[in-house]
Amino acid sequence: MLAVVNTPKSSAPIEIRDVPEPQPAPNEALVAVRAFSLNRGELRLFQIRPEGWRPGQDISGVVLQPAADGSGPKAGARVVALTDNAGWAERATVPGHRMAVLPDNVRFEDAAALPVAGLTALRTLRHGAPLLGKQVLTTGAAGGVGHLATQIATRSGARVTAVVGRAERGRHLRGADEIVEGIDKAQGLFALILESAGGSSLAAAIAHVEAKGTIVVFGNSSGEPTPFNFRDLAEHPNARIQGFSYFTSEPEERFAPDLALLASLVSDGSLKPHLVERSWRELAQIGPHLRDRQISGKAVFHID
Ligand SMILES: NC(=O)c1ccc[n+]([C@@H]2O[C@H](COP(=O)([O-])OP(=O)(O)OC[C@H]3O[C@@H](n4cnc5c(N)ncnc54)[C@H](OP(=O)(O)O)[C@@H]3O)[C@@H](O)[C@H]2O)c1
Repeated sequence: MLAVVNTPKSSAPIEIRDVPEPQPAPNEALVAVRAFSLNRGELRLFQIRPEGWRPGQDISGVVLQPAADGSGPKAGARVVALTDNAGWAERATVPGHRMAVLPDNVRFEDAAALPVAGLTALRTLRHGAPLLGKQVLTTGAAGGVGHLATQIATRSGARVTAVVGRAERGRHLRGADEIVEGIDKAQGLFALILESAGGSSLAAAIAHVEAKGTIVVFGNSSGEPTPFNFRDLAEHPNARIQGFSYFTSEPEERFAPDLALLASLVSDGSLKPHLVERSWRELAQIGPHLRDRQISGKAVFHID
């Protein structure tokens, strides 16, 4: 079968090549992949993982063969799934508890946007629950995690201020009560801040958090450090700076229900992933656009 393979020593960072068919473990289903998405964190993996490594975490497709241990969806089910790697291929193996059945009206492309970015959006927001009536600020709001977090926060009753780098980045953003160009333009204090840019953005987030509020630090897209002093929190007593990993923040058995929840939000129209859709043969060309902040929402690829 064909699969995306890491080629860090070549001019293109990845190639589509012939590889052996995957062999599912007893707890794994075999899935015919229809679409997948690319995450900013995966761009870095292309550089640091060895030649021949197989990338790919976010996939959607059809179960060809269910897990032998009986876990997970049945043969023929349309699913969204999170794999550790090797998902960007014609066929992939997925543990039964890391996938959810898609409602009929959810497209494979929309579903493929959900695993890493959607779980991150959902689970970072839980640090501010209940969100009803709270002021929430999302950084990187035009990006994969940010645009989903903005919509889910609004759906949960929060008043959301979304931070974008340039005005045009806010054009496709749904759900924000206010869109600001740069966190410095945000007004007031926030009960929950989702911070992924780092550097001066994280410093500004500290200045904008309510007393007893929470800043969830889940990324450092700028690569910049943030000088930090206890006194920075003096006017924000008992505010919390919370580290975050989407993968370990909740138990393994929560993957399937959370993926199902995200898919149901897409199904009922309250979550609408914004996509740039391409053939998987264009993956190597789209990567630099994501790196350079040219992609609004998620880059999703069809296996065609
Ligand atoms: N901890 C976890 O579990 C976890 C999970 C998923 C993602 N992440 C991290 O969360 C961040 C967001 O992920 P994502 O997939 O949403 O990425 P993305 O789609 O590339 O979005 C990131 C957004 O951040 C904004 N940004 C602000 N300053 C930036 C800078 N200096 N360089 C690059 N972007 C900048 C960009 O929007 P503007 O151009 O409009 O400013 C961009 O759209 C990444 O750092 C990623 O590694 C962490």
